[in-house]
Amino acid sequence: MTSHTIQTLRELVKQDRVHRDVYEDPDIFELEMERVFGRSWVFVGHESQVKNPGDYFCSWVGLQPVVMARHSDGKVHVFHNRCSHRGVRVVNEVQGNAKLLRCMFHGWTYHTNGELAGVTQPEGYPKGYTFDPVQMGMPRVARQESYHGFVFIALDPNVPSFREYFKGVLAALDDLVAYSPENEVEITGGILRYGYPGNWKFQTDNACDMYHVVYSHESSSSGKAQYVRRTGDKSGIPFFDDQGKILTFDASGLWAFDGGHGWEGPVVQSHGNSAKWYRDYEERLKKSHGPERAHQILTRKRHNTIFWPSVVIQDLNMHIRWVRPIAVDKTEVIILPIKLRGAPEEMFEESIRMLNTTNSAASITQADDVEAFIRGHAGNRTRNGNPWILLARGHADSEVSDPAYDRGVKSFGSSEMLLRKQYQAWVHLMTA
Ligand code: FES
Repeated sequence: MTSHTIQTLRELVKQDRVHRDVYEDPDIFELEMERVFGRSWVFVGHESQVKNPGDYFCSWVGLQPVVMARHSDGKVHVFHNRCSHRGVRVVNEVQGNAKLLRCMFHGWTYHTNGELAGVTQPEGYPKGYTFDPVQMGMPRVARQESYHGFVFIALDPNVPSFREYFKGVLAALDDLVAYSPENEVEITGGILRYGYPGNWKFQTDNACDMYHVVYSHESSSSGKAQYVRRTGDKSGIPFFDDQGKILTFDASGLWAFDGGHGWEGPVVQSHGNSAKWYRDYEERLKKSHGPERAHQILTRKRHNTIFWPSVVIQDLNMHIRWVRPIAVDKTEVIILPIKLRGAPEEMFEESIRMLNTTNSAASITQADDVEAFIRGHAGNRTRNGNPWILLARGHADSEVSDPAYDRGVKSFGSSEMLLRKQYQAWVHLMTA
């Protein structure tokens, strides 16, 4: 039983700071699973991960296991991964294909839409005892939406509509699929995973923090810039100017929306790629979208876009970065490479190569972030003195509404505005 009240929870989040308990208190973590993940639209996978009837993918909403599966009717269904007999988790492989899903405990089976298919030894139940396939199935989640194949679900039937909830950031998904000559993306490049002993919010905070980049990732830069991420990109991401002065990412900008969603502006302006296959890609894009639109598409608008609280989509090395909370001090991050349908195969190969360099457990950049999360967890165990985590950078005076985006607010790139927006959303959900 938590000792927190609406009032004590409100006191943990100020306009320019957050109390360390938000990251460290096990009772708050339990409440978050119920009130943040239980009251939001949460990413559970992409339809391309379950291409064929019978394909399934094990996913999660906070601590709750769910299954995304394509049924024989061709539809993608998301249901709780729980047997109606005694509650055992039915599906345990990360993904696969099955005609029926079978519980290992007493052998009950379920269809790939979650409905009960069969009860073993039914003669042992009292006469007239019935098993309704839906009532005794693996329960469907309350709400489910798909947008360009990205599947989001809500456990609470009373959440705002999907489009209202993500108003502002859905444009990032429109722009993402436009990179594909077929206007379609798929997740078929495997999964990278890493974990860290720290709170899940260290990762969601970090996805919209351009302030840390030149310091945390200093070792991945040489001379004036970070390492080159694309064939033919001569410079890499600039860290320093000609005089050796640190470059901020302030000019890139930062956009935020209600609900804690938003994006960072681009850290480079184009793919900057001189490989033959890249020119082939440009030609395919021009053919399908027209030269003018192709140019617009290739002019980058974003770096990381956060669909708070569960998922980040990165434009530079296209991938989904998916946050899975396990305990107050334990988090897993799942990286799903995004493939552009209709683009040359070499483009996806390069993308996967780069994700191994930047976003795998042994990468030369992600390891820096994980180290910061571990030290953040350790430092915030201090019980004396200052209990606050400061998020004042760019507070108030730098935030301006951007008429280009309905209810969007803009600030400079290294502002902590988007973190503040996330904690406003956090306190709203936790005290609603
Ligand atoms: Fe699943 Fe018994 S718990 S069949």
